[in-house]
Amino acid sequence: MRGCSKVLLKPRTSEEVSHILRYCHEKNLAVNTQGGNTGLVGGSVPVFDEIILSTALMNQVVSFQDISGILVCQAGCILEELSRYVEERDFIMPLDLGAKGSCHIGGNLATNAGGLRFLRYGSLRGTVLGLEVVLADGTILNCLTSLRKDNTGYDLKQLFIGSEGTLGVITAVSILCPPKPRAVNVAFLGCPGFAEVLQTFSTCKRMLGEILSAYEFMDAECMQLVRQHLQLTSPVQESPFYVLVETSGSKVEHDAEKLSSFLEHALGSGLVTDGTLATDQGKTKMLWALRERITEALARDGYVYKYDVSLPVDRLYDLVIDLRARLGSQAKHVVGYGHLGDGNLHLNVTAEAFSPSLLGDLEPYVYEWTAGQRGSVSAEHGVGFKKQSVLGYSKPPEALQLMQQLKTLLDPQGILNPYKTLPTRA
Ligand code: LAC
Ligand code: ZN
Repeated sequence: MRGCSKVLLKPRTSEEVSHILRYCHEKNLAVNTQGGNTGLVGGSVPVFDEIILSTALMNQVVSFQDISGILVCQAGCILEELSRYVEERDFIMPLDLGAKGSCHIGGNLATNAGGLRFLRYGSLRGTVLGLEVVLADGTILNCLTSLRKDNTGYDLKQLFIGSEGTLGVITAVSILCPPKPRAVNVAFLGCPGFAEVLQTFSTCKRMLGEILSAYEFMDAECMQLVRQHLQLTSPVQESPFYVLVETSGSKVEHDAEKLSSFLEHALGSGLVTDGTLATDQGKTKMLWALRERITEALARDGYVYKYDVSLPVDRLYDLVIDLRARLGSQAKHVVGYGHLGDGNLHLNVTAEAFSPSLLGDLEPYVYEWTAGQRGSVSAEHGVGFKKQSVLGYSKPPEALQLMQQLKTLLDPQGILNPYKTLPTRA
C-alpha cells in the first residue's frame, strides 16, 4: 500500500509528541503515527492528508536492569538494534520477526506483533510491563512501570497494545527480556504430509519439552518461491512440507541429546523423511532465512493477496487445499506457511496482476471459512486499513461497539490514525 503526505514530523521526546498532538487536537488535524513502516495491513500509511508522525528519532535506550532483564526504551528503537543491545548484556528480546532490521519497537507494540518467538515467550501482552503513551489531546500518560506484578485495577497499557495508533501514540516501552539461551539448535525437516507435520509437532512438544522455542512450517510451493526469487536452496530432499524446529536451552549437551533422540524417533517412524541440523550461527541463520524470507519471495512473484488467520491447528492447512481447488489456474501460487506452533497460518495467493474476479473468489470465502472454525481473521498482522471491514467475522457486534465507544472516549475528534482499525461495515 502506498500513501503520501505533505508533512512529516520527527519528534525526539514525548514532550514534543505532546506538543504536536495538542496542536493537532486544537486544529483538528489528522495524524498518522509511523514506525518502521513494515506492517502488512497498511496501518502505518497515510490515507488522505494525514500528518506523518515518525518515531525515527525517538531511538534512545533509557535503562536496562541486568538482574531482571527489564529494558526501558523509546518507541523508535529498531528491533534488531535492541536485540544487539540486550544480547551484549546476555539477554534477548522476547520477540523476533523478519522485519527486525527496520521495524520499531513502538510499532511492534502498536500492532501487537507476533513473530517467531511467540511459541516460547508468549504475546507482547505478557512481556510488556509498562508503556508511556501520548493521548489525542497531548496528555502524557506515564504507565511506564517496570513491575512484573501490578494489579491496580484496569490494565490500561493493554488498550494501546494492538490499537495501531488509533487510541494514543506509544512513546516509550518497558519490556521484559529473557536471558540469552546458552544453546540454540535449529533442525530443518522434510515431512511427507500435513498429518505428519502435526504429529511431529506433538512429538516435539513431548520429547523436547521446555527447550522447544519455535515450530514453523512452510509448504513445497514456498520453497519453490524462495528458490526462484531469492536463490536460496533447500538443505533437505524435496518434500511436500518443511518444518523448522528451534530449541533454546541452558546446556549444550542436554539439548543435543534431547534433539537427537527426537530426530531418531521422527525419522524412524516416518514422520520426517529428511532433516538437517544447525548448531553454528551461520547455518542457523541460513535455515531461518528459508522461513523468514518467504514474504519477500512472494512480493517478487506478482500481486499478492495476503491472509493471516488463526485456526484450530488440525484444520490449518485444509484452507490452503480448498483454495487451490477453488481458484484453479486463476492463481499463480497458493501457499501456506506460518507459526504452526501458535495455530497461525499465513495464506498467500499470487497472480500476475490484481484481478477483481480473483478477489471475488477469495473474499468473503476465506473469512467465512475462518469464521466457520471460530478462527481469527487477523492472527498477528492487525487490522490497519485493509482488514477493518472483516472484523465482524471474528468479533460479535457488542465487542465492535465497545471498541467504537473506547475510540470516541480517547479520541473524540478522530484525529489519531483515522480510517484504520475500527470496524466498517462489510
Ligand atoms: C511471517 C510474517 C509474514 O511470519 O508474519 O513471515
Ligand atoms: Zn508471521
